[in-house]
Amino acid sequence: MIVRQDLDKVENLYDTVAKEYAETFSGEHEKKPKDQEILHRFSLEIGDRRPLWDFGCGPGQTTKYLKNLGIEISGLDLSEKILEQAKTIHPEIHFRKGNILELEFENDSIAGVVAFYAIVHFTEEQVEIASGEIFRVLQPGGIFLFTYQIGEETIHVEEFLGKKIDIDFMFFTTDFISSCLKKSGFEKIEIIEREPYPGVEYGSRRAYVFAIKPVVRKSP
Ligand SMILES: C[S@@+](CC[C@H](N)C(=O)[O-])C[C@H]1O[C@@H](n2cnc3c(N)ncnc32)[C@H](O)[C@@H]1O
Repeated sequence: MIVRQDLDKVENLYDTVAKEYAETFSGEHEKKPKDQEILHRFSLEIGDRRPLWDFGCGPGQTTKYLKNLGIEISGLDLSEKILEQAKTIHPEIHFRKGNILELEFENDSIAGVVAFYAIVHFTEEQVEIASGEIFRVLQPGGIFLFTYQIGEETIHVEEFLGKKIDIDFMFFTTDFISSCLKKSGFEKIEIIEREPYPGVEYGSRRAYVFAIKPVVRKSP
């Protein structure tokens, strides 16, 4: 049985702050050199393999950054309103609604997935489900690149981007993320940690993760 996050709550949050979120975070990679380095690396490693998806794409700043590197990629998100922002700002990119916890994609169908801070509202159990779902839909040899905020805490937030909200932001330990990916079957897991950029983002340590779906499935 799939344990659901309160999807309505998360969707409602990003519907509520969609415009402000887009204004605040569009172009954010320009201020984050490590993001740029990691996204360049993804573009080189993925080469001409397709299709590619940005899961939990928000207003599409990561999708657009990769598109600017010559990478054809589509975006998926839960929130209709944030998708409206993404489609308006980047009309040349394909965006659609979907749920990372119940992906409507065939097994072994996607060459690469990026997911920047898409797991910030997931419980540990939901991170495990997302990891399993992404493993399922990736092609053998497919690349999963995602980010998270490092820590053990859950922060309850009642105001965000000037709007009254009611949501939890989750932090994860690198040990948890690593064991979760291994349990799903990923290999070549590389976790790159960094300090926050002062004045640019919330002051939590960050991690970028590269994980590969094996070409030949290992026996359990
Ligand atoms: C913190 S934002 C990150 C957005 C963008 N990737 C970025 O880096 O700014 C989290 C995004 O994930 C989306 N999201 C949360 N849970 C999701 C789910 N189960 N399926 C699809 N998208 C989800 C939210 O709607 C939101 O746009």
